[in-house]
Amino acid sequence: MVIERARVVELRTISDPKGDLTPIEGGADVPFDIHRVYYTYHVPEGGTRGGHAHWVCREVIVAVSGSFEVVLDDGSTRSTYRLERPDRGLYVPSMIWRELEAFSVGAVCLVLASDHYDQADYIRDHGGFLEAVRSRR
Ligand code: TYD
Repeated sequence: MVIERARVVELRTISDPKGDLTPIEGGADVPFDIHRVYYTYHVPEGGTRGGHAHWVCREVIVAVSGSFEVVLDDGSTRSTYRLERPDRGLYVPSMIWRELEAFSVGAVCLVLASDHYDQADYIRDHGGFLEAVRSRR
């Protein structure tokens, strides 16, 4: 099977004297139909989120306010992305372990997801994730 890579996606910005507007349409601005949106905020200083991978769900993560880091692990390589712009998203394919950390005060992390919430789609054990990745290669 083809293992997709994570990538930064540039989002459109419509700027005028009233301010900036970034529209996100499923299948156009992000590479999937959007079935769920959630956002995290009020993350305590030094707090982390994530710590899991998805069997199927794909996501685009956007720092709509403030900044944070996303550490991605495809089972062999770890890459850190600093997100700090509301006009840029990080596309995270399925079967990629992610950890979010170094949140600035007031950071808001918006996530656009390809699927509805399904607890069964989560891999929350890193050892189990590595085994699953290796068995797919
Ligand atoms: P969790 O997966 O731990 O959040 P994160 O990956 O951002 O650290 O989810 C926290 C709680 O919220 C957990 O009880 C599951 C619930 N939840 C939903 O009900 N719906 C959702 O879409 C998400 C992402 C989480």
